Amino acid sequence: MKLLVIGAGGREHALAWRLSRDSCPSKVFVASGNAGTAADPGLVNLPLANPNALANFAEREKVRFTVVGPESFLADGIVDIFRARGQRIFGPTRDAARLETSKDFAKRFMLRHNIPTAFSETFTDAMLAHDYVDAKPGPFVIKADGLASGKGVVVTSTHNAAHCAIDDMLIRGKLGAAGSRVLIEDFLEGEEASFIVMVDGKNILPLASSQDHKRIFDGDRGPNTGGMGAYSPAPVVTPEVHGKVMREIICPAIRGLVAEGMPYVGFLYAGLMIGDDGSVRTVEFNCRMGDPEAQPILMRLKSNLPTLIELALEGKLDQADVEWDHRTALGVVIAASGYPETPRKGDVITGIPEETEEVKVFHAGTTMRGDETVTSGGRVLCVTALGENIHHARENAYATVDKIRFDGMQFRKDIGNRAANSNDPSIDESEKGVLKRPL
Ligand SMILES: Nc1ncnc2c1ncn2[C@@H]1O[C@H](COP(=O)(O)OP(=O)(O)O)[C@@H](O)[C@H]1O
Ligand SMILES: [Mg+2]
Repeated sequence: MKLLVIGAGGREHALAWRLSRDSCPSKVFVASGNAGTAADPGLVNLPLANPNALANFAEREKVRFTVVGPESFLADGIVDIFRARGQRIFGPTRDAARLETSKDFAKRFMLRHNIPTAFSETFTDAMLAHDYVDAKPGPFVIKADGLASGKGVVVTSTHNAAHCAIDDMLIRGKLGAAGSRVLIEDFLEGEEASFIVMVDGKNILPLASSQDHKRIFDGDRGPNTGGMGAYSPAPVVTPEVHGKVMREIICPAIRGLVAEGMPYVGFLYAGLMIGDDGSVRTVEFNCRMGDPEAQPILMRLKSNLPTLIELALEGKLDQADVEWDHRTALGVVIAASGYPETPRKGDVITGIPEETEEVKVFHAGTTMRGDETVTSGGRVLCVTALGENIHHARENAYATVDKIRFDGMQFRKDIGNRAANSNDPSIDESEKGVLKRPL
């Protein structure tokens, strides 16, 4: 069986690894992949990025189905292109993916469907945006409307920084077209978590909960990044919170997309803000799995991933059962020197150990130079480990991180700190039952 994964990061390595392990004998193509996907048995890198060329390839090779990793391909309408040619692909259409590609669209959609989220106003005129900020006390959340690879949101308590962010986006065009429209959002208090589901148009299969760490430095300090580590499950997503998220956010969203004529197929990710009072609000939607959340989640998945995706493509997710490893999985991202502003490329990486039942090093920004594995992007590796609880998963992951070397490597030493410090007992998701909601 031939499968195709689109993307080149850690999430795609994890997807391809899981698909290949669950569908032997198989060949999983990864476009364009990295040094990790080049080396893993059963995975084959494909140097293609053009959606039409990828669809040609899928047709010629009789690929059974394609899975899209990154949002940029969804924004380019790769799903529409594949579907128009009768190729099976797991991901939302360009229209449905506006939930991620336009924060203004997502905000209006949430208002239409009564989905809890922060109040916000949208501006294209800098003067009006400045007036709005002047009339408010802060803190302020300034968001670029379009895709900005994690660089489009400024959260600040000062008027000055809020004015600067507005000028950067609306006047100086720092983010290009993505920042030509900005949202100024009310600040939400609480703890964040990632809630990812698979959707087949109408049925929803929730995946295990997770939490990531966006800031570059320990203690959640320093600039935002694509994500410096993640773990699953997230104790903050209690069964009560889980039920609430499904009722108030996920189900209304999927129903709303059907009602608006763009049924959603693919992974849907709701970024949550969970209040002390147990309230849940939507920070954002992403139309794909999170990176690095995908790595620990897929490490815990015991069900067969190709089967789940095929059921989703056939509109039969209500027949799916999903089983999770009872253990905690935790991923530590190792980033390049200079990340996130100016990551250096070409540093030689040594000491990556063979995969074991408990530990897998997923690659992201890596490539081969002769016989050597070298850095080629900001986030380089995600060392992902299972453990009986968060403490063991952490020990296992960091013991492996300690073996890996490259010049200028950066990683956080406190991944999983929230869960490790929380008094909540670890949630056993396998006991929580499968929530299936035909609409
Ligand atoms: N309304 C808000 N209140 C408090 N923090 C927010 C709010 N919106 C966003 N944030 C913070 O900014 C981060 C990035 O915002 P998000 O909407 O997820 O955009 P993106 O992931 O596209 O950069 C969030 O993970 C959260 O930490
Ligand atoms: Mg986000």
